[in-house]
Amino acid sequence: MPVQIAPARAVRGRLTVPGDKSISHRYAMLAALADGISTLTNYAPGADCQSTLSCLRTLGVHLERPAAGTVVITGRGLGGLQPSATPIDCGNSGTTMRLMAGILSAHPFATTLVGDASLSGRPMRRVMGPLAEMGAHIDSTEGGRPPLTVRGGPLHPITFAPQIPSAQVKSAVLLAALHTTGTTTVTEPAQTRDHTERALAAFGVTVERDGLTVRLSGPQRLSARTLQVPGDLSSAAFPAVAAAALPGSEVTIEAVGLNPTRTALIEVLRRFGADVEAHVDTRLAGEPLGRMVVRYRQLRPVTIAPAEVPELIDELPVLAALATFGGGLTVSGAGELRVKESDRISALVGGLRALGADATEAPDGFTITPSRTLTGGTVDAHGDHRLAMAFAIAGLGASGPTLIEGAAVVAVSYPAFFADLERLRA
Ligand code: S3P
Repeated sequence: MPVQIAPARAVRGRLTVPGDKSISHRYAMLAALADGISTLTNYAPGADCQSTLSCLRTLGVHLERPAAGTVVITGRGLGGLQPSATPIDCGNSGTTMRLMAGILSAHPFATTLVGDASLSGRPMRRVMGPLAEMGAHIDSTEGGRPPLTVRGGPLHPITFAPQIPSAQVKSAVLLAALHTTGTTTVTEPAQTRDHTERALAAFGVTVERDGLTVRLSGPQRLSARTLQVPGDLSSAAFPAVAAAALPGSEVTIEAVGLNPTRTALIEVLRRFGADVEAHVDTRLAGEPLGRMVVRYRQLRPVTIAPAEVPELIDELPVLAALATFGGGLTVSGAGELRVKESDRISALVGGLRALGADATEAPDGFTITPSRTLTGGTVDAHGDHRLAMAFAIAGLGASGPTLIEGAAVVAVSYPAFFADLERLRA
């Protein structure tokens, strides 16, 4: 069913957002490899993190869901996953496929990993290359796309410097390295989210970090843990941007993850003019957590440079929506957006134009000029959860209604998104 968004005067209120998607994937996978029973709370409710759980189940992991948001996982120990006669289904989730490919590379059997139409079009050579160098055999389509068949076995450590900054690639190699004998070194071209490093430490693994270099000496066994997942800052970005966009708005987001490799969003919202308070008040297993308050202020133009892109990658669609309210935005060095859940440059620019925005596409970015109020209209989510939500936020500032086709895809990361947004209307 399409969802209709009416224009809004302002947004006001307080909310919590779903558990962090990146952290949920990692905690579930590490719990499956640990010795003992782990309990995870505030586990992300979206379809992506359910895909990780169903893959783990297919690989012999016993898990229970005693309450909403709680997952109890009986670890099988390092290298203890069981072969599956059927393919494991990663759904829409690139993180599931790439990180599981790392883990399965160290298991002495063949596993086929499949995904939905969107995931089946995404590049996998970035993980196949280093995992093959470690000793795994991985087949894909000729174009390096899923399905992947991973034939794992004994691996050796590598020294690896990926060309593209990608937390998923770094994590796939580190998860494989956990099972090898010797030291694996990954040096990134730019800092990416470091949840894998923090999660490994939380499960008792020694990980050394020195600037952009991460070192892990394997094999190391993991100990089961009880862990709470912080709220997802990438989901919080949507109500936060709504507050930054509409005069008279103020939104408070409680218990949200404020890991410094994710908070570039806050700095960019301030550059747009917004008044943003963010205070870390707790640490959960090494992940900072706190409260964020966003208040509207007059919008100013913003430029996002290539060096800033890796830490903002998932927030660029909603920042484009913000720029349609005023200020404007130019982004470059963001070619990676073209290989996300959709081509997030052409689908984003096309969608915002359909709503009346002055938006132009570049090979590696886009420009939004805030020359006019959006009209609203009909826009397609292109099977992409972050685009569906970004179009909804843009629609709040239109003169007429916005109809989002394929809006149900928000269930991938934020099932209650539309309900939360309606509650915030002032
Ligand atoms: C993620 C890393 C990012 C991000 C994705 C989640 C992760 O992808 O876009 O939504 O959990 O590691 P890349 O590592 O491919 O940049």
